[in-house]
Amino acid sequence: MLNQQTRINQLLPQPGADLSDEELLNLYAYPERRPWVRFNFIASLDGSATHHGVSAPLGNDGDRRLFALIRRLCDVILVGAGTVRAEGYAGPLVSSADSRWREANGLSAHPALALISGRLDLDPHSELFSRSPVRPLIFTSAAAEPGRSQELAGVADIVICGEDSVDSRGCVQWLHGRGLGRILCEGGPSVFGRYIADDGVDELCLSLSPLLSGGAGQQISSGSDSPGLRRLELASLLESDSALYGRWVRPGA
Ligand SMILES: NC(=O)c1ccc[n+]([C@@H]2O[C@H](COP(=O)([O-])OP(=O)(O)OC[C@H]3O[C@@H](n4cnc5c(N)ncnc54)[C@H](OP(=O)(O)O)[C@@H]3O)[C@@H](O)[C@H]2O)c1
Repeated sequence: MLNQQTRINQLLPQPGADLSDEELLNLYAYPERRPWVRFNFIASLDGSATHHGVSAPLGNDGDRRLFALIRRLCDVILVGAGTVRAEGYAGPLVSSADSRWREANGLSAHPALALISGRLDLDPHSELFSRSPVRPLIFTSAAAEPGRSQELAGVADIVICGEDSVDSRGCVQWLHGRGLGRILCEGGPSVFGRYIADDGVDELCLSLSPLLSGGAGQQISSGSDSPGLRRLELASLLESDSALYGRWVRPGA
């Protein structure tokens, strides 16, 4: 259960104690520039994105509070099929209070939900589809198996975006074209790796958990090396109960 009283303090750009939701929402407001691709991840102190296969054990109350506030602000949650298979994503992705806030602030009650999958190994009868308050959309490629695509078309909008694999820029442009330019990508590592390689990351919100995970957990990005190192600039840094929450943005944005 989320403790709404969890104190989140600001270290940068200037120190501030016990930030209110309104202050946090202002800090994390999307810039005017559209489309804007924000990634949100958590990592353990020793660099793991998961503990026993999921990310939740790494988070603390401050992280959960911030995670929900970050979701409030977006037009669409974009997520890879691997994360959906590992973490669920069934049911509303924002609380009813957050929905009311969204409507009062000119957003849809629920953010759109967009999945990325090549193999379309998703169960059309799962709660991911039956309990979603919005009809999900699935970005896939022309190489997707037509039978699977047909099955899923009953419960989701299928968007072909790319020949052999899903084209990261194509997804962003497609979403932007439908007024969904404030994009929140919740991973996972394969999707993030691909966006890094394609220079498609405008912002990274990264929670650094004070926990050591040990073992062989994967890092927050995976895939082949990107053609060059990508630099982001620190926009803000918060702390709560020994966790750090940083926000890095594309230089000059
Ligand atoms: N620490 C964190 O903040 C965090 C955040 C998210 C996830 N995670 C963890 O990360 C793990 C999952 O890792 P992952 O790399 O498998 O997650 P992922 O990036 O969400 O999913 C990978 C899958 O997405 C699809 N995909 C990604 N890019 C594609 C492309 N360009 N074209 C076609 N399909 C594409 C493929 O789906 P198909 O196989 O269906 O083709 C691929 O297998 C889980 O353990 C999860 O808990 C951690």
